[in-house]
Amino acid sequence: MCGIIGYVGKREALPIVLDGLHRLEYRGYDSAGVAIHSGKGIKTARAVGKVAMLVEACDGKNFGGTAGLGHTRWATHGKPAEKNTHPHTDCTKSFYIAHNGIIENHDELRDELRAKGHTFKSETDSEVIAHLLEEEYRIFGSFEQAAQLTLQKIRGTYGLAMVSSYEPKKIIAARMGAPIVLGLGENENFVASDASPLLSHTRTVLYLQDGEMAVVMPDSYFVTTLDNKVVERGSETIEWDADKMQKGGYAHFTLKEIKEGPEVIENTLRGRLITENGLAKLGGLQSIEAKIRAVKRIIIVACGTALHAARVGEYMLEEYAGIPVEVEFSSEFRYRKPMIDVETLVIAISQSGETADTLEAIREAKRKGATTLGIVNVVGSTIARETDVGIYNHAGPEISVLSTKAYISQLAVLALLTVFLGRQRQLSLSMGKRILEELETLPPKIEKIFEQEQKIRKLAKRYAKYRHMLYLGRKYNFATAYEGALKVKEASYIHAEGCGAGEMKHGFIAMIDKAFPTVAIAPSDSVYDKMLSNIQEIKARGGRVLVIASEGDTRAIKLADDTLTIPKTLEMLSPILAIVPLQLFAYYLTLERKLDPDRPRNLAKSVTVE
Ligand code: AGP
Repeated sequence: MCGIIGYVGKREALPIVLDGLHRLEYRGYDSAGVAIHSGKGIKTARAVGKVAMLVEACDGKNFGGTAGLGHTRWATHGKPAEKNTHPHTDCTKSFYIAHNGIIENHDELRDELRAKGHTFKSETDSEVIAHLLEEEYRIFGSFEQAAQLTLQKIRGTYGLAMVSSYEPKKIIAARMGAPIVLGLGENENFVASDASPLLSHTRTVLYLQDGEMAVVMPDSYFVTTLDNKVVERGSETIEWDADKMQKGGYAHFTLKEIKEGPEVIENTLRGRLITENGLAKLGGLQSIEAKIRAVKRIIIVACGTALHAARVGEYMLEEYAGIPVEVEFSSEFRYRKPMIDVETLVIAISQSGETADTLEAIREAKRKGATTLGIVNVVGSTIARETDVGIYNHAGPEISVLSTKAYISQLAVLALLTVFLGRQRQLSLSMGKRILEELETLPPKIEKIFEQEQKIRKLAKRYAKYRHMLYLGRKYNFATAYEGALKVKEASYIHAEGCGAGEMKHGFIAMIDKAFPTVAIAPSDSVYDKMLSNIQEIKARGGRVLVIASEGDTRAIKLADDTLTIPKTLEMLSPILAIVPLQLFAYYLTLERKLDPDRPRNLAKSVTVE
């Protein structure tokens, strides 16, 4: 997610802000910028790429002032480009803002502001904030009041820092759904998106809560609610070091990103549900809605974890959208002779948007006349740019090599796409509504799974001695078996074998003995009884079984040696829940084997070569 740093005090602001941006680089970003009071208005610099390029862009410029802010951007609306880089300003260049989050009603605000004569320079949702400040200031002549009225008009999420040429010794910050923390120093104060850039200056901090706004000066600050009620809350002292800070207090990015699951589903769904009509709103598809309605066949190309998401999407789209779907390894698709025509939709799923095989598969599909659609997390990535249309995950940067939060976001996007396509076809309003309503219940259901974390850690301690494991699943959780096994393989280097449970008797069961345990994904669904039989067959051969069962299960838990449970949900959405305990299980197995889950040997975060 984006990074924000603001400073107001007695020292020159630019070096402090640039150093703060360096300390925010870990968050993942694609561009950076600064806005610094120079004593004669506000000077800015922006750069696409690394902070080092921004430092170069600032070189030689006189930024003299002792207040300003900086931002590292993780693109959500508008590709990485200088015009989209924060801080954004208004028509009069009197206000500069750095924003983290998504403004849901930015389209309507932009229209209203344009009607009042405002001109926009960027493609971002964030820029509307600067123009709203300009508009409100013109009426009230107060920076604080303009900020309060602006915040009352925007819907969505923000962690926000604002400066104005009218008040060179002041920063205003606000929080709604994205963190903002004040750093309190001696005759100097700070604003940031997390405390990591503050630690070299102060450990005395105050975290804003949702719906709060802070006015920060060199030797004082105050906090109010958006309806101007004063908030009295003491500061606190940070004990963490920078590394722990960057991981949100977790030991590894892998665990942090697994724990971000609930928030990721919320962000993936945000602004995309028209529940009362059972419709999914996918703005990126609007331009070719008619063409998509004519689609007769879908091919999904992907690699690794993204391919496992594709396999779940295959079942969703066939069952609820009534469209034939094939899933292809990108690396195979591009070398075989795929049958493609203008009624084929080729979907590429890729977290990074840079996977070479998937990119080449899309290029091959386009050569043959297919319509291409990208489900991508990194905005402005090559696959996002080269597919005809796309759906961004909005999962935020995934730092760990292990793909965890992106996977559940991919599944949620595929569920939205299923509703979108299904409601163009035979899917009823009531079933579309049912799926969307159930999607909204998933974040707290994922949180509930986290309550078993200590039990999972104990199970990992017990299973870490094994060198082999079999993962079994059927139908919607066929792919869960393969994804759960991949997590174990790539992080703990234990040989874990994913297997469709129906295939077990066609060879896999020969491996089972007391040294070869099985993880069976057996929620209460349409293939539950079949899974019970598979568990019994494993037990009859002396194999240990860890079952992932639904809450309230009474049969599987009697057969298995160890049990983890997931809340009940629609069968098509159960993979989103079933993978969560398996991600945690793989993480703790890795720790038991004294390995680093964030950076497994031999692996890269994005396989940009064949
Ligand atoms: C996932 O844990 C792996 N690191 C890997 O399989 C990954 O999913 C695969 O390389 C595809 O990457 P992409 O989603 O960025 O295209």
